[in-house]
Amino acid sequence: MSALLSVYERELVLTKGRGAWVEDRDGKRYLDFGAGIGVNGLGHGDRGVLAAIRNQAARLVHASNLYHTEPAAALAERLTTLAFPSRAFFCNSGTEAVEAALKFARKIGRSQGRSELVAFERSFHGRTLGALSLTWTPKYREPFEPLVPGVRFCAFGDLEAAAAVTGPQTAAVFVEPVQGEGGVWPATPEFLRGLAGLCRERGALLVADEVQCGLGRTGRLFAHQHAGITPDLLTLAKPLGGGLPIGAVLLREELAPGIAVGDHGSTFGGNPVACAAALAVLDHLTRPGFLDAVERRARQLRKGLLALARIHAQIADVRGSGLMLGVEFRGGVAPVVRALEGRGVLATRAGERVLRLLPPLVIKPAEIRSFLTSLDAVLGEGAGAA
Ligand SMILES: Cc1ncc(COP(=O)(O)O)c(C=O)c1O
Repeated sequence: MSALLSVYERELVLTKGRGAWVEDRDGKRYLDFGAGIGVNGLGHGDRGVLAAIRNQAARLVHASNLYHTEPAAALAERLTTLAFPSRAFFCNSGTEAVEAALKFARKIGRSQGRSELVAFERSFHGRTLGALSLTWTPKYREPFEPLVPGVRFCAFGDLEAAAAVTGPQTAAVFVEPVQGEGGVWPATPEFLRGLAGLCRERGALLVADEVQCGLGRTGRLFAHQHAGITPDLLTLAKPLGGGLPIGAVLLREELAPGIAVGDHGSTFGGNPVACAAALAVLDHLTRPGFLDAVERRARQLRKGLLALARIHAQIADVRGSGLMLGVEFRGGVAPVVRALEGRGVLATRAGERVLRLLPPLVIKPAEIRSFLTSLDAVLGEGAGAA
């Protein structure tokens, strides 16, 4: 593995997966509470997704955007019907979805002299230069400065602070309805409603970045729906393709005439195999009762975590929304992640102190119990203490 450029810290070599379980090359099994950083929403090896991939791959793997393909057209129709009246643009990742949203907002705002962007403290929007400019964490940004100019950051959850930086110069406000990488912080419905009102009043566009929190993760198909708002743009990616790379931007219908042929593009974007997989994912997420089951599992997991917080003093906070939960420790989270891995459980971190839990949405009650037992044991050994 040494020929890989070392931008990641990693050791495990995973070879297969089924449901909420993955296996490494030595045959050791792991309960996957990271789900490929939220990508494997339906777990590993979902039959519907695999069949869609196989069927489409046998017909047409790639066409380029010089031509229409049926899966891309069907996916656009499906997403815009499920979300809000809009037009879809497809790309290949979360950061590209944010990048496209940024360009669309700049283009639309241009005639009114709006070029500034507002983003929030603790935000994470991606690693390409545009999305990185909207990402708050200095260690991600600083080595690559100068970035895209005209980004104003303000405190997440503070409407007055947002009002102070949003004005006639603002093209768009970017918000994660649940901040992920920044430590799993859900926005309150009041904050999101306030932001939507502020953007309407000041003529700025509201971009909901649901790359991580969208598509069923919070128990609703889209996280902004908890607040009863409709953003102007919505970015989606991670779980959309059932494991294949795909990103999407939905742009509110009335704004679509502001984007013309040639304004943006992507050779791979809207790849027919990825779109066919995404259609299978959406079929699954919209099955009657599916999201109710996600909410039940979320309640079980949160209740279990709160019970552990009463026993283990090193837990400082349990927060999140649906099956996107964060456990903040008084000490470092790295030993917790390592100890869990030793016990056959995979989970990710968000920053130095937060254990980020993103189990597959199809996680079973017994698997949640098994996870809680492992976490209890790890904390009993003292991991996560200050
Ligand atoms: C909210 C949000 N936006 C954008 C991204 C970037 O997505 P990707 O890693 O697919 O480029 C992420 C990734 O974690 C994310 O959480």
